[in-house]
Amino acid sequence: MQTLTILGGGSAYTPGLLQALIAHAGELPLTTVRLYDTDAGHLAIVARLTSAMAQQANAFKVEVAPTLEAAIAGADLVLNSTRPGGLAARRIDESLPLEFGLPGQETVGPGGFFFALRSVPEALRVAAVMQDLAPDAILLNYTNPSNIVTQALVNRGGVKVIGLCDQSDEDLLALCHALGRPARYTFRCNGLNHATWYSDVLIDGAPLAAHNAPLAPPDDYDDEHKLRFELSLALAREHAGYWPNSYLPYYLFPQAFVAHARRVGPRSDVVAASLDRYYAHFEAEGKRARPELKFFRGSAGFGDLAVTAIRALASSTPHELVLNLPNLGATASFAHDTVVETRVRVSSAGIERLPAPHLPTSFYGLAKQLERYQRLTAKAAAGGDHQARVAALAANPLVGKPLLAANMINQARASYPDWPKARA
Ligand code: G6P
Ligand code: MN
Repeated sequence: MQTLTILGGGSAYTPGLLQALIAHAGELPLTTVRLYDTDAGHLAIVARLTSAMAQQANAFKVEVAPTLEAAIAGADLVLNSTRPGGLAARRIDESLPLEFGLPGQETVGPGGFFFALRSVPEALRVAAVMQDLAPDAILLNYTNPSNIVTQALVNRGGVKVIGLCDQSDEDLLALCHALGRPARYTFRCNGLNHATWYSDVLIDGAPLAAHNAPLAPPDDYDDEHKLRFELSLALAREHAGYWPNSYLPYYLFPQAFVAHARRVGPRSDVVAASLDRYYAHFEAEGKRARPELKFFRGSAGFGDLAVTAIRALASSTPHELVLNLPNLGATASFAHDTVVETRVRVSSAGIERLPAPHLPTSFYGLAKQLERYQRLTAKAAAGGDHQARVAALAANPLVGKPLLAANMINQARASYPDWPKARA
């Protein structure tokens, strides 16, 4: 497990990921990290910075690959962390649903569906190249919507796939912060990516319910994250013993997010406006003899989860983590081959699923709807025809009706500059 390839290597998330890999280089088997991106300018800036960082720490070699094939050939691990369509497409994912009175979110609802139509074919292309040029490699998929992309890859078969998302750590850290406790927590979980419930939560050794402090969102959260936290708290009050994934409020209080987005505009605009500052910092540090990375996109959890997963896969002692994988009996709430987000024990010998806790009973119906939506969308995005797309989008619990789904798809076809054509 010596060569790690990062697809989306020019992203503003990559320096933070590399910082985590460098900090743990002694525990990882890596000798080479290969970066590949379709944005050559950003790739050059990030590669220069991260290779200087890695060299200074004597960690591993950082190299740039000129093509997808060159990036993948001979790799042991391929980390897919791309955004097909870029922020311009994300802006449409976030705006178009609002015109139909639905939340505009890049992973939830219609926005997530349109993102999946772009992400799934790209991920399948990666899988095809891997099968040819790195048949034993493991594909670690961070690309969103992570559950749908991972489901499509699992359906395809032919490559080893693990889906990643660090949201559970982000949510638990927010709780620690709200309680004013150190970041020490354990939890179990069940559900689908961005739609899980946490249970058996212990913070700083004590059950969540035993902490009496009033819970307020972290100060550094923006308004949308504060809203998600406050609505999570409302859901937790209705479901004793549970805490929801902070994306669940989009499904359960959609109008709160519609109103919010109409007030503040799309998140992609905030992200786009911040990028110059990130790349200016990366470029400036990349030129220094001793580069110092002071900030990067994404939470620390993004890099930490990748480090934990890679370390676990290479280690003879099992490590526990939360991954997106085919259920295979971890929970009775979903079908055997549905990709679920679940706690597992990982080592070089394999992956052992730990029994998942029960979901709150009031969530059973929504869980089944989301499962059906995930499976239909994974198939439709992998090469379905127009009818398959309409049926998949209609299965989204926020959409519900085929006529509404068809109208949204027609509008989307006219809105995205590179609309992925359906199979005839
Ligand atoms: C969380 C989610 C990721 C998502 C990210 C978006 O970390 O778990 O799946 O990509 O938020 O962050 P952004 O800064 O792009 O809005
Ligand atoms: Mn995520």
